[in-house]
Amino acid sequence: MQYSEKVMDHFENPRNVGVLEDANAVGEVGNPRCGDIMKITMRIDEDTNVIEDINFQTFGCGAAIAVSSVLTEMVKGKTVEDALKVDNKAVVEELGGLPNVKVHCSVLGEEGIAAAAKQFYEQHPEKTPPEGL
Ligand code: FES
Repeated sequence: MQYSEKVMDHFENPRNVGVLEDANAVGEVGNPRCGDIMKITMRIDEDTNVIEDINFQTFGCGAAIAVSSVLTEMVKGKTVEDALKVDNKAVVEELGGLPNVKVHCSVLGEEGIAAAAKQFYEQHPEKTPPEGL
């Protein structure tokens, strides 16, 4: 299977790359299968839980970079609760598919969001984290 045009676009021109300086949620995850790592920083509105901004840094394969990039676009403006519902299948679909051997790379994205969200809820014990976090 070839990479879709959308995968190539997000790989060549990744959106929301970097580290947000005023982030209040940070998550770092690694893929045990290949050793690639991804860091997610988010600025979340502390009243509404809406993700106002999100950046990523991925040291990994092209598929992981495309996944991170499209995922940041998909979750920006959503509440943390809704962002956590965007799973790797939704991301792969949004990208127009990924070769089977690369599907494991898409899991890194949802794990990165979950890790950052977890940190946000740990800092806000007054808020109830969504189930499964
Ligand atoms: Fe490591 Fe794709 S090969 S995330």
